[in-house]
Amino acid sequence: MIKVLQYSIGYLCEICIPLRSIFGSNFKIMSKVLWKPGTMIYPLPAVMISCGSVPEEYNIITISWTGTICTDPAMCYISVRPGRYSYNIIKKNGEYVINLTTKSLAFVTDWCGVNSGKEHKKFSEMGLTPVPASKIKTPLIKESPVNIECIVKEIKELGSHHMFISEVVAVNADEKYFDEITGLFKLNDAHPICYSHGKYYETGPFIGKFGYSVEKKKMKR
Ligand SMILES: Cc1cc2nc3c(=O)[nH]c(=O)nc-3n(C[C@H](O)[C@H](O)[C@H](O)COP(=O)(O)O)c2cc1C
Repeated sequence: MIKVLQYSIGYLCEICIPLRSIFGSNFKIMSKVLWKPGTMIYPLPAVMISCGSVPEEYNIITISWTGTICTDPAMCYISVRPGRYSYNIIKKNGEYVINLTTKSLAFVTDWCGVNSGKEHKKFSEMGLTPVPASKIKTPLIKESPVNIECIVKEIKELGSHHMFISEVVAVNADEKYFDEITGLFKLNDAHPICYSHGKYYETGPFIGKFGYSVEKKKMKR
């Protein structure tokens, strides 16, 4: 035992002492905990997907496995477990709407993600309003600041989840978030939320805009 300890200490000194002389006294041995492969890309959105082509069929499922996959044509995906009540509705109709969520929609977002349309009428029970979309039969959720109308192009059966690869056919933005003077859409005024490792969060303070890292500083006269 003592021999093993001596060897280990000797080995560490052999590595650390030369590295300290290069990097200075701030050098520390880093350690990482190794986990088995899993889903750890966070934070993610937590969106409400509306589905169904007739009112009796309308449903909402909360989804975090979602994202943009192409700009032109505008394409995105959602990954859904085949056991979800919404799965067959989306598959049958070949369309759905991605409704972005906000701090004031956090409770209903979670509720729609822990209750099934098998037992609940989620729109009416959560006080959400279905309104007609522009290009598809699936309704938008009126209370959401942005509704993205999607048509399914391909379904990839990956394993636990099937990925619906879809084309965006229209985007609806709530007029109350447009700046009266500049005309710019101010999504952050709606307090969007994200989902990170099992918890919901608001977005935090502004850090910088796209490209700020390479922007030239304004010269003072
Ligand atoms: C924050 C959050 C994210 C979720 N993300 C997914 C997801 O990406 N894919 C999925 O199949 N289920 C996801 N779920 C689970 C479904 O929303 C949940 O099983 C829901 O009750 C299914 O509704 P339905 O049976 O009416 O279709 C998520 C739930 C929550 C709360």
